[in-house]
Amino acid sequence: MNVDEAVPVITVDGPSGSGKGTISQLLAQHLQWNFLDSGALYRLVALAASRRGIGPDQADALAQLAEALEVSFEPSAALEAVVWLQGEDVSRAIRDESIGVMASRVAAHPVVRKALLSLQRSFAERPGLVADGRDMGTAVFPDAVLKVFLTASAEERAARRYKQLKDKGEDVSLAPLLADIKARDERDSQRSASPLKPAADAMVLDSTRLTIEEVNQRILAEARVRGLL
Ligand code: DC
Repeated sequence: MNVDEAVPVITVDGPSGSGKGTISQLLAQHLQWNFLDSGALYRLVALAASRRGIGPDQADALAQLAEALEVSFEPSAALEAVVWLQGEDVSRAIRDESIGVMASRVAAHPVVRKALLSLQRSFAERPGLVADGRDMGTAVFPDAVLKVFLTASAEERAARRYKQLKDKGEDVSLAPLLADIKARDERDSQRSASPLKPAADAMVLDSTRLTIEEVNQRILAEARVRGLL
């Protein structure tokens, strides 16, 4: 495997809305480690494809795009990094709901997942990496020192998303958000290529009734046990 064994990796996997994005970025900040938002890579492939008129079922063309992805992440003071695709700031464009749906379809192709493997592994640089995704602990970094699988009920995740969008001033209602979350869960966990599931050696945390701070403290306690801080 093309991973520097000496670089410690913490993986944080889970469904959308589980809080893994926030948690893994807080962890990376706390440890002063690098951060990989692997979902952003699938979103970038989806965005690049939609701009070129490549459909979500054209596996080989999508894999070629993924192989050639010219991407960079620029850490920002806010938790969301600025994402560049071929010199263009696409941070907002990749968060579009339609790109998220396409990313989930793009991510179902084994050739696309394979094409993104070495790019994802190249983020494992000193002093360490926190990797956020669906298959970080099962497929991309199977030797990670600490694997977290963060989950929460679909209802709680929909409620969090609802609040997020309302706070942004968007006119949304809860029922379609819940339906969308359930559909995406189904697609991400039923696909044959790297389905969403906890690694056998993952610490499984249900965040339904926990605050971000409580989740963070539990993971840090586990990191301490493993001598990572
Ligand atoms: O975490 P996110 O919503 O930004 O991810 C977008 C899509 O990409 C999501 O539907 C599942 C997919 N994905 C994946 O299959 N494997 C990953 N490691 C990360 C994301």
